[in-house]
Amino acid sequence: MTTQKSPVSPVTWLEDRVLLIDQNRLPQEYTTVEISRSDDMAEAIKTMIVRGAPAIGIAAAYGMYFGAREIETTDRTEFLAELEKVGDLLRSTRPTAVNLFWAISRMLKTAHGAIGSVEHIQKTLLEMAKTIQAEDLQTCKDIGDKGLAALPATPEKLTLLTHCNAGGLATAGYGTALGVVRSAWREGRLARLFADETRPRLQGAKLTTWECVQEGIPVTLIADNMAAHCMKQGMIHAVVVGADRITANGDAANKIGTYSLAIIAKAHNVPFFVAAPLSTIDFELTDGSKIPIEERDPIEMYQVGTTRICPVGVEFYNPAFDVTPAELISGIMTEHGTVAPGDLKQFQAKQLV
Ligand code: MRU
Repeated sequence: MTTQKSPVSPVTWLEDRVLLIDQNRLPQEYTTVEISRSDDMAEAIKTMIVRGAPAIGIAAAYGMYFGAREIETTDRTEFLAELEKVGDLLRSTRPTAVNLFWAISRMLKTAHGAIGSVEHIQKTLLEMAKTIQAEDLQTCKDIGDKGLAALPATPEKLTLLTHCNAGGLATAGYGTALGVVRSAWREGRLARLFADETRPRLQGAKLTTWECVQEGIPVTLIADNMAAHCMKQGMIHAVVVGADRITANGDAANKIGTYSLAIIAKAHNVPFFVAAPLSTIDFELTDGSKIPIEERDPIEMYQVGTTRICPVGVEFYNPAFDVTPAELISGIMTEHGTVAPGDLKQFQAKQLV
């Protein structure tokens, strides 16, 4: 393991391996973890060293390449069968973010479509992993820049609120919701970002504020239960969050607590935007009730740091995501512009897998 300072790029390709920023250690410690095997990549996704929907898609794409590199046969049919098993391993890590499944499918499609030797297919897979990563960086910049047009026109600069971390750390480096914040800051339209702390894993407190501090974006941290009060005081012009999976009707799964934030926003007439690339849209699912919701270890709830915060004998329920119904969403900000949740279908033909 190495320690170094660098811009927010959660996944970095280095000649024959990948460096992941260990997101479990931020903000106290900036460390990177070297990964060169598919099973280690699966573990890194599962344990959330790398997290955030597009970032786990990118990580899984490199994991597929590592898996391809580990397969010893030169027989194409055997190779492709073994590669499917690598896909199964990586798919089993986290169930909700569709970008993971999207990236694995794209890698498998690339392998099946490549002609020539196994060695050639392996090289093609590495190129595809790099392409997925490079595309995401550009896609997020487009989401950020185009999303600006949908933000409310206000006489004063905007104060935005976000939940969890949909930033550079959760993507190739620019962010979806935080990409909109970055673009607004760059264009002089942002006064301040409010960041929900995002219990239980505190991605807002630990990661979103860290990214803002790195770039000098003014940020105010609030506990999750303070958002309604802030909106009632007129302190928030709009909410922008990311998504892990958006269904064909525009329902959006995102970090637990997003749904209640959307209800609060509606009650206070505050526009509520979801920023996400097309790779987050699952056109195969008609609505959000079909999205698998990950449940995580209860230790995330009963332990803060090394301190247990409730008595022994309590039971727990720890869903990691919830689904915001389309009717609570003012617009979905994509790389092709912002659309009403009901109008997503127009993008189906543009999806790359
Ligand atoms: O459990 P996490 O930290 O992977 O959840 C992340 C989120 O919910 C993000 O908002 C979402 O993945 C969008 S990231 C651009």
